[in-house]
Amino acid sequence: MDELLKGFVFDLDGIITDTAKYHYAAWKRVAQDELGITINPAVNEHLKGVSRMDSLNVILKFGHKENAYTDTEKAEFASEKNDLYKSLIQQMTPDDILPGIADFLKAITAKGYPMALASASRNAPFIIDRLQLAEYFSAIVDPATLTKGKPDPEIFERAADLIHLPYAETVGIEDAVAGIEGIQAAGMFAVGVGSPDVLGKADLLFPDTAHLNLAQIETAFNAARK
Ligand code: G6P
Ligand code: MG
Repeated sequence: MDELLKGFVFDLDGIITDTAKYHYAAWKRVAQDELGITINPAVNEHLKGVSRMDSLNVILKFGHKENAYTDTEKAEFASEKNDLYKSLIQQMTPDDILPGIADFLKAITAKGYPMALASASRNAPFIIDRLQLAEYFSAIVDPATLTKGKPDPEIFERAADLIHLPYAETVGIEDAVAGIEGIQAAGMFAVGVGSPDVLGKADLLFPDTAHLNLAQIETAFNAARK
């Protein structure tokens, strides 16, 4: 039997809003002040979609200090980073919603598709609130309850479970390679936002959020699931 499109799971950072700049600013400060490590935009690319503690481990590895600190010290650095990050995101408003996203979410809602948020960020509910988008999401995954990060499919499966969607009838939207891999590993249809050299594996690709188009997604989904 043909599968029907039933609903959507969304990444947050890089799809709904650009919080990467705030994560980067906060990590840069902690890395410099506490670890004596100077990170750069190339390192930042490896922090996207990666949990807080894993991000710290990426930075420590980059600075050749992966064994220099105890777990307690590492927890303190991560917590300091989060305090800085939280102070930066206090200023977010609906103006920080990426282009086209507000209309895209409205179009999805108008057609009755449920949506869930699959972000690795423990601050996601706060951000969705600041952006005044809470009404669109029937569920937000709590990453504290997960055992594995992207590219593992767990976060996308949990998001679909929360809104009772069969994976094969779910569309996932992501801007990171690990995210596209996780969506596909869950058996979902993967919509990428970004460039073909990075996200070539996506089932459907848009160059940026302003180009996201529900009718095109429905057509591509139906063609793929026939
Ligand atoms: C997202 C971001 C990552 C961040 C992670 C955890 O996936 O892309 O850069 O490390 O969330 O965020 P948190 O707010 O829980 O520290
Ligand atoms: Mg992302």
